[in-house]
Amino acid sequence: MCGIVGYIGNKNAVPILLRGLERLEYRGYDSAGVAVYSEKEKEIIVCKTKGRVENLETKLYDNPIKGRIGIGHTRWATHGIPSDTNAHPHFSKSGKVAVVHNGIIENYMEIREILGSKGYDFVSETDTETVAQLTEYFYNQTGDLQQAVFKTLEKVDGSYALGIICSDFPDMIVTTKKNCPLIIGLGQGENFIASDITAILQYTRNTYILEDNEVAFVSKDSIKIYDDKKEEIKKDVYVVDWSIEAAEKSGYDHFMLKEIYEQPKVVADSLNRRFKPDGTGIQLDSIKLGREELSNINKVYVVACGTAYYAGLVGKALIEKLARIPVISDVASEFRYKDPLIDENTLVIVISQSGETADTLEAMRLAKKKNSRILAVVNVVGSTIAREADDVIYTLAGPEIAVASTKAYSAQVVAMFLLSLHIALETGKMTVDQFKEIKKEMEKLPSHINKILTKAPNVKRFMEKYIGSKNVFYIGRGLDYTVCREGSLKLKEIAYLHSEPYAAGELKHGPIALIEESTLVIAVATQEHLFAKTMSNVKEVKARGAKVLIIAMEGNREIENYADDYMYIPRTHPILTPLLANIPQQLFAYYMALGLGNDVDKPRNLAKSVTVE
Ligand code: F6R
Repeated sequence: MCGIVGYIGNKNAVPILLRGLERLEYRGYDSAGVAVYSEKEKEIIVCKTKGRVENLETKLYDNPIKGRIGIGHTRWATHGIPSDTNAHPHFSKSGKVAVVHNGIIENYMEIREILGSKGYDFVSETDTETVAQLTEYFYNQTGDLQQAVFKTLEKVDGSYALGIICSDFPDMIVTTKKNCPLIIGLGQGENFIASDITAILQYTRNTYILEDNEVAFVSKDSIKIYDDKKEEIKKDVYVVDWSIEAAEKSGYDHFMLKEIYEQPKVVADSLNRRFKPDGTGIQLDSIKLGREELSNINKVYVVACGTAYYAGLVGKALIEKLARIPVISDVASEFRYKDPLIDENTLVIVISQSGETADTLEAMRLAKKKNSRILAVVNVVGSTIAREADDVIYTLAGPEIAVASTKAYSAQVVAMFLLSLHIALETGKMTVDQFKEIKKEMEKLPSHINKILTKAPNVKRFMEKYIGSKNVFYIGRGLDYTVCREGSLKLKEIAYLHSEPYAAGELKHGPIALIEESTLVIAVATQEHLFAKTMSNVKEVKARGAKVLIIAMEGNREIENYADDYMYIPRTHPILTPLLANIPQQLFAYYMALGLGNDVDKPRNLAKSVTVE
């Protein structure tokens, strides 16, 4: 949540900050701002505004500023409404210190009171302003910016990634982080700071990934980094292999649509690397999760948030089905506070696209403390969760920019397929022949997804027919129910439509009271052993006036007897349908959002990387 970017070099910082902020907008878009040191004025000039980066651009067009050092911010509001005043960067009392911040300063009220009693007035409602004021307070005492920053960090509690500039040091950006991501981009005669690599990918792929409590003093030609003991350290350069094209729309109207269409490739990439060359099993990078390690595991936990959690539910179902090991699933925000029954014999699988989600990260840290074995399924290479986990399966989806997750979900589901097959093989619950049969079907998944994507115009027609819906129910059983949960989330998130996913058999225990004439019910019915049961639930809702759209596997012509509309996915092995059946749901949510005039890539109230709890 919130994106920060900074530049120091010989170029004008403003356009670089603006481009960076545009790429970071997925992290929040309530307001945007930049602070630049103007050599002409010999002071830091701030321009900030409520709303999107484009508003900031317009404001800067009318009031241009120029300078070779600057910091920028795009906000997801936590403390104080989205407004010009609460927008970052925030200034200290004298205007000497400007700060951008991602995270939450938990003891900001206390600090405000103390500084208030010393004559510091606060202009915003934010927690961030305390960092600017406190830095200046210590700077005035010590005359040393470095000491002032260290002292400030000793006083603040909470989570943060910070970018700080001071007009007395116009050749330096100070940056630090705790529980929020921050990287330093390394250029030639110029350097960058950013919440993530997409903001600066067009300038450099060479980065330092800052660890918690490290503080960096970034000049155009040098970078000094100190650890939590204030000792200078050397860090390895981490080279990012994402391409700049992957972070652009490439002719698509929206990132979400582009990312939906990237799924055949993402799935192919995820599979290609993971099958053993002789076809007898799975190779999970360097993860040691063989027969011996698994013999010590008597319980598996799957922990994640949102879409990643729903991908985890696919993993839960498949590990239980194929490997016959009990799996408990929990959303990270619950897991953290329930004193979970885990120990060194528990395998905790955490799933996260960003690798920075605060609740998932803390859930993982809790599990680590209890000596559980941590396997993280993560998309962003080098992210905090990836770095702190015992083992990592990278999902190879590439940068996902749209706030609503699509290709990352598919990559997570593929990882769950692979992991459950691997565990089943290693524990002897599946034979190599059985595996080979499923593998053959898995290899067809990319072309199956392509085939579904050619049916996008049909989905668009469903949108036109059902655009007036006020409530949408998703029903299914078993694996289909996990798919429903993801479909319903997507519709809520970008179409802003009230929607409920229900285990089809549970509907009659209450929620069926909400079904009325023309309520749209989407029934996912790919699990053919459960088909008759799901169809009886379809009949129940139809009897109460619902319109039913059914998603089923090709060849199941029976659905045509029950459905008002239907959509087939290519026939595949039943355990693989959660990947395919979700694609029409993604398209449906996309077209509904578009039809309703919503901002598909940046839905209201949301941000992609949820680094607050
Ligand atoms: C929904 C969505 C969110 C995320 C959730 C976890 O489309 O994107 O529900 O799945 O916030 O995020 P990560 O996977 O980054 O931990």
